Amino acid sequence: MITAFIILLAYLLGSIPSGLIIGKSFFGIDIREHGSGNLGATNSFRTLGVKAGIAVTLADILKGTAATLLPLLFGSGLDPLIPGVAAVIGHMFPVFAGFRGGKAVATSGGVLLGVQPVMFLVIFLSFFLSLYLTKYVSLSSIIVAVVALTYAIILQNTPLILVVGILAFFVIYRHRANIVRIKNKTEPKIKWM
Ligand code: G3P
Repeated sequence: MITAFIILLAYLLGSIPSGLIIGKSFFGIDIREHGSGNLGATNSFRTLGVKAGIAVTLADILKGTAATLLPLLFGSGLDPLIPGVAAVIGHMFPVFAGFRGGKAVATSGGVLLGVQPVMFLVIFLSFFLSLYLTKYVSLSSIIVAVVALTYAIILQNTPLILVVGILAFFVIYRHRANIVRIKNKTEPKIKWM
């Protein structure tokens, strides 16, 4: 019973559409109607600017981290990875935003921050190294998904391998339109790095 409650709460936490809330409250716009149409951190930077982009990034990371802390909060022995995955599903398919959410990157990062802070640091640095080299946020997101899975395999931690494998699949699958644009050379590159 408590397990189901924690998973539901984690899904609802992940469903909080930070990009939509900040976009509508401060700019009067739904970011899903602008830029790439994604309800995520990158499109918040693109559409709402740096300050709002940082706020959305932090909020989306925090959702994932908070979800991993729920078992501890409720005194349950549930593996924190499970509410973590539920939060990422909420982020991608938010009940509070018509099930049209983001691409799983920041919230998955938040889950890793909650369960494996060193791994989070590794993927955080890998992300910026990849961004510096490729100038593509989307490609860098895909690359860090692969880095995270490789890291989990090196750790030989089976539950972590399974969950990071699921999260990496979510990230790559949600970037399929970006992959086509990268192939067609129509994916926007960042200009500030
Ligand atoms: O975090 C999502 C990012 O990797 C790509 O976002 O808006 O460029 O499709 P976007």
